[in-house]
Order: sequence, then structure tokens, then C-alpha cells
Amino acid sequence: MSKTRTVLVIGVGSIGERHLRCFQSTGRARLSLCEINPALREKIAAKYGIDRAYADLDAAMEDPPEAAVVATPAHLHIPMATRLARAGVHLLIEKPLSTSLDGIDTLGEIVRDKGLVADVAYVMHAHPALRAMKAAIDSGRFGPPVQVVVQCGQHFPTYRPAYREIYYKDRATGGGAIQDAMTHILNTAEWMVGPIDRLVADAAHQVLEGVDVEDTVHVLARHGNVLGSYSLNQYQAANDWTLTVVCLGGTVRFEGPKMRWRWMTKPEEPWHDEPIEPFERDAMFVTQAQAFLDAVEGKAEPWSTLDEGLQTLRCNLAVLASADGASGWQRVGR
Ligand SMILES: NC(=O)c1ccc[n+]([C@@H]2O[C@H](COP(=O)([O-])OP(=O)(O)OC[C@H]3O[C@@H](n4cnc5c(N)ncnc54)[C@H](O)[C@@H]3O)[C@@H](O)[C@H]2O)c1
Repeated sequence: MSKTRTVLVIGVGSIGERHLRCFQSTGRARLSLCEINPALREKIAAKYGIDRAYADLDAAMEDPPEAAVVATPAHLHIPMATRLARAGVHLLIEKPLSTSLDGIDTLGEIVRDKGLVADVAYVMHAHPALRAMKAAIDSGRFGPPVQVVVQCGQHFPTYRPAYREIYYKDRATGGGAIQDAMTHILNTAEWMVGPIDRLVADAAHQVLEGVDVEDTVHVLARHGNVLGSYSLNQYQAANDWTLTVVCLGGTVRFEGPKMRWRWMTKPEEPWHDEPIEPFERDAMFVTQAQAFLDAVEGKAEPWSTLDEGLQTLRCNLAVLASADGASGWQRVGR
């Protein structure tokens, strides 16, 4: 039997509540929470039977936990994570890692010096079809990847009706389609075929009512020798999430809403489907929580590290710069 870990969830809005529930369901964590909104703090504490519910991080740090989930808006991630790391707390930080590069080097040094786990919660790493597809590509059975194409769209007002009131409405708090959603796509593509070293982008506000941040994004990218093309909108009725990796010896495709990946190696041949068991969204967060706790206990490597989160953050910043008019291809990296 694993030891039970003390885990603090900071910010119990939409995703923080989910983390709280999913860590609780692992049976491996004793949970506390920290939330500045008093009504929400009381509601969530009562709903999940949490007796330690703090009004702010100062109060929570009087008795530091072993691990924390940072689920506040993105501009708060680094200051909070740095404070926690100084106290020796392992970190699961929501995406995107931040809205700028400020303070990340310092956080990295503290994490290294103290030997902490610091994961960035790109939850698509826990998707069983993507994991299976990545394992197949990594095995070399389709040959080396040469091109990646992603098409993604969904109706944000249906899935996130509060979008006008939350961090999403302002880029400074991690809002807009680039930092909110395109970051998942770029991170998933980097995980599949390696880091992006340059990109160019276009983005605009097209449809979503009540906000003026971009809701439509197109990115062309180079991951070394691999060409990437990524498109996203947040208002179409159809729920699309297709990621195709063309390799020298075959084409491999993830189809999110259809809960499968598929592959084809010869022209005119039918697709070979690789379905997965349908699952609820919580299941990925439970898997992520288990993987994080395994890493904290030294049983497994972390899944999506601070360095990987930083690399994808550099992509976000390059996409923002390019979409805002910076000329030519934007280099990603130091
Ligand atoms: N992995 C995913 O699929 C996913 C999905 C949605 C959001 N996110 C990310 O999670 C983060 C939070 O998003 P959300 O949708 O839950 O937002 P949200 O607005 O619903 O929740 C954020 C919560 O943080 C609280 N908060 C703000 N400042 C605080 C402070 N100083 N101390 C304590 N609590 C504080 C707010 O009161 C709010 O309840 C963002 O970085 C977002 O990008 C990830």
C-alpha cells in the first residue's frame, strides 16, 4: 500500500474542482484546498468533505503540504509555484506554465536544488489513444515522422459557458485561444514528434460574443525536419480534434471525439482502426494524478516536466508575437 500524501489544490474553480475530485478518487492523497472566493471555498469544501480549506496561500503555508496542484489563472502560476517550491512542495502546475518567462529560471533552480517533481498538467498526455499512438510511432513501425496536421474546433460557449467572466477574457491572465487551447495542441504535437524550433501564426477574434481575445488560430511550425500545420476555432458546432502524423512508412491519425487512433500504410488500403474504451473526462485527470503521485514517490518518471512546459510556453509567446504582427518566422528557444 502506498503512503497517503498531503496534497493542496490552489484555486478550486472549474479545473481545480476536477483535480480535487480526481486526486481524492486515487485514494492516495489527503486533500486540502485554497480558494480566495469564500462562497466557492465553502461550497467545494462541503461537497468533498475537505476540513482544511484556506482563504489564501499564506494560511495554507502555515502547514505546508507534500504536494500542490496550482489551478489558478496562469499569471499566478509562477509566483505561487516558486513559493511552494521554496518550502519543498512537489508541484503539478496547470497549463499554460505562465503568461511570460518571468521567474521561471529561478523556479527551475529551486526545483533542481530541492529534488522536486514539477509537472505541467498537459492532460492530453493521459489520453489512452494518444498514448497508444505515440508508443506506436516511437516503436518505429511507421518510420520517421515527416509532417503533422491538426484540426481542432469546438463550441466553447457550450463547454465553458462562463468564458466571459474568467481568465479567458484577457490575455494577461492566460486568456484567448492561443494560451487557452492552441497550447494543448502544440504541446501534444511536441510530445509526438519533438520540439518546435520556429513558427509563424495568424489569429483573430471572429465570433465569440462578449470578449475581444482571439478565438481562431492558425500556426505553421517546424519541429526540426518535421513540418507542422495547426488550426483551431472555439465556436463551430462540430466537436473536432484530429491529429495526423504522416511518417515515411505510414499515416497515423488520432480522432479525439471518436475515441480512437487509426493507421494506414498503403494507398487504397482501408484505415486500420485502434479503438479505445470510451471514458469520462475525469478518467484522464485520475490517470494524471496517479502519474504525478508515482513521480513524487520515485516510482516513475514525470510525464510533462517544467522544461517541456517552458518549451511550450515559448511556443505560445512566439505564436502571440507572430499573430500580433512580428515579421517572418519566429525562433522558439533561448
Ligand atoms: N487542463 C485542462 O484541460 C484545463 C482546462 C481548463 C483550465 N485549465 C487551466 O487551469 C487554470 C484555471 O482555469 P479554470 O478554468 O479552473 O479557471 P477558474 O476561473 O474557473 O478557476 C480559477 C480559480 O482560482 C481562484 N483564485 C484566483 N486567485 C487565487 C488566489 N490568489 N488564491 C487562491 N485561489 C485563487 C479563483 O477564485 C477561481 O476559483 C488556468 O491556467 C487554465 O488555463 C486547464
